[in-house]
Amino acid sequence: MPFVAIEGIDGSGKSTVISHLAGILPRVYATREPSGGPIGRLIKEWALRGGSSDPHVDALLFAADRIEHYRREVKPKLMEGFLVVTERYVESSIAYQGAAGVPIDFIKYINSLVPKPDLTVILDVDPQIAVERISRRGGAEKFEHAAFLRRVREIYLRRAAEEGHPVVDASRPPEAVAREVAEIIKTRLQIG
Ligand SMILES: Nc1ncnc2c1ncn2[C@@H]1O[C@H](COP(=O)(O)OP(=O)(O)OP(=O)(O)O)[C@@H](O)[C@H]1O
Ligand SMILES: [Mg+2]
Repeated sequence: MPFVAIEGIDGSGKSTVISHLAGILPRVYATREPSGGPIGRLIKEWALRGGSSDPHVDALLFAADRIEHYRREVKPKLMEGFLVVTERYVESSIAYQGAAGVPIDFIKYINSLVPKPDLTVILDVDPQIAVERISRRGGAEKFEHAAFLRRVREIYLRRAAEEGHPVVDASRPPEAVAREVAEIIKTRLQIG
């Protein structure tokens, strides 16, 4: 079964869209990065205490978590016949650690042990709107400043154009965004 990554800046609505997808598409298995495994938990615990101050360390940790997550969770669920939808994957590392100054070729290299998803969908929203959503949700973290998110968004959009990833306008109501994402998944992957 296909493997789909939902990408976009913090507050773009990834979790919200993925929660709707399970009601629209058959046999969805939703997962996310950082994962629930040992390296993912380390990343989350460290982030709560301020995290690393070196984006290369972040890039390496995220890549290690991704390899572990893919082997432990994503691949087995694909083999069981699920449509696996992950919130964040390689494009998050390229956009975030790229925006923080890590060379993109280095990020690609350390992520070359995991397969590409069958489809990557980018949820696109103005960082100002995203930051307002996050502050309503409660709490802002290291990666969530609007100026930084503008750089992250630029890289997402540049990569989408280069790689042919569909970009969805995520400033609309959640149901409309989720419907469009579901249609893109169905059409591109010939599901349902
Ligand atoms: N289309 C939308 N319109 C308005 N508000 C939205 C929309 N989508 C999500 N929200 C709200 O914005 C907040 C952030 O949404 P969500 O948690 O889904 O974003 P996210 O992309 O998963 O963020 P993160 O990167 O932090 O995981 C939530 O409070 C959510 O209810
Ligand atoms: Mg989320």
